Amino acid sequence: MSGISATLEGKRLLLGLTGGVAAYKAAELTRLFVKAGVDVRVVMTDAATRFIGTATMQALSGQPVFTDLWDARIPDHMAHIELSRDRDLILVAPATADFMARVAGGMADDLLTTLCSARRCPLLVAPAMNVEMWSNPANLRNVELLQRDGVTILGPAVGDQACGETGLGRMLEPEQVFELVATQLAGPGRTGALAGKKVLVTAGPTFEPIDPVRGITNISSGKMGYAVAQAAAEAGAEVLLISGSTALAVPRGVRRIDVQTAQDMHSAVMKNVAKQDIFIAVAAVADYHVVGRKEHKIKRGKGNLTLDLAPNPDILGAVAALAKRPFCVGFAAETENLREYAQAKRLKKNIPLLAANLAQHAFGKDDNALTLFDDSGEHILPRASKIDLARQLVAHIVEMLQPKRGVTRKSR
Ligand code: CTP
Repeated sequence: MSGISATLEGKRLLLGLTGGVAAYKAAELTRLFVKAGVDVRVVMTDAATRFIGTATMQALSGQPVFTDLWDARIPDHMAHIELSRDRDLILVAPATADFMARVAGGMADDLLTTLCSARRCPLLVAPAMNVEMWSNPANLRNVELLQRDGVTILGPAVGDQACGETGLGRMLEPEQVFELVATQLAGPGRTGALAGKKVLVTAGPTFEPIDPVRGITNISSGKMGYAVAQAAAEAGAEVLLISGSTALAVPRGVRRIDVQTAQDMHSAVMKNVAKQDIFIAVAAVADYHVVGRKEHKIKRGKGNLTLDLAPNPDILGAVAALAKRPFCVGFAAETENLREYAQAKRLKKNIPLLAANLAQHAFGKDDNALTLFDDSGEHILPRASKIDLARQLVAHIVEMLQPKRGVTRKSR
């Protein structure tokens, strides 16, 4: 029995299919789960049955397939509750725009949506749709709502589509979905490229108080750092996220410590860093704090107000200087001369890897483009969603941690 089968054996998955051409990928996905010892119960919408037969899914899962809210095989017509109660996870693949809209809106008008709304277990969805449907503002709004409600979105990928167009919206390949879901099914630290590793991530802005109602901060949303934490957790790591104030939900399986100032973040990092294997500093840390923070609100005066600012500790620099240090990854947000400033920053901070981006393209946005700098050169990660970039960054870290693999990597 392979390692992954050993950890997935006996796990119970509810696999939902909605109506899309990518339904054929659900057949291979079922085969992969069944092969790994997972008990797969399939639920299909009416539309899904137009793309792939229930007989195929029944044969591959080895179990009856359910399509009807009023299925007489379930006692008391409680299919919408019973079918998910004993499951460890619900995966909907492929998930259409319509399905995501209905779940985001709390609708429950067929078997699959009622199961999702009455579930106690995590819900993961792998979207599959045309590029224009994916980028439709209503769809992106629904994706964000689902994420806020704790639903994990897997993909989509960029590529050729059944309609003949090309772009973002293609369902991830069955092997990719399997790997991401397997990590979550197995539980943190059990499977994945970072299984058994501890990862510490800083994210978001820091806030330096001036008086009880004012302070100095920056426009970081925390989205990149949270995506990195999610990607590391998906890869099987035990992730601790030390975060400044953001409006974001904690990614599933990640532990979060909330902090306000750079000094708080420094203390929390130094307290927790000893056991970490990897440190990824994504936070936009204020370089200065106000000396002599006022106890009461400063009143408007006639002349100028002068603030006395003193430097904050360099958190990444402090971790990188430890005798027994984790693998350190820094981020750099620049507004100009990206390449020159980023390489200089990596060498100054003495870290093996730095991910650089242009601040004006990154702050507050859902997508970004990164350039990774390491000893072997420069690696461009073209514009993509922050979670996709975070997964690519994690894959790059995994590759760098493999003994003697770095020298063969292509650089530019
Ligand atoms: N960083 C940190 N502690 C600080 C400042 C930055 O840990 N006090 C980390 C950030 O999380 C990021 C990296 O260092 O990973 C680079 O951040 P940046 O603000 O670009 O670097 P600075 O060293 O502050 O350089 P400058 O502001 O002069 O560009």
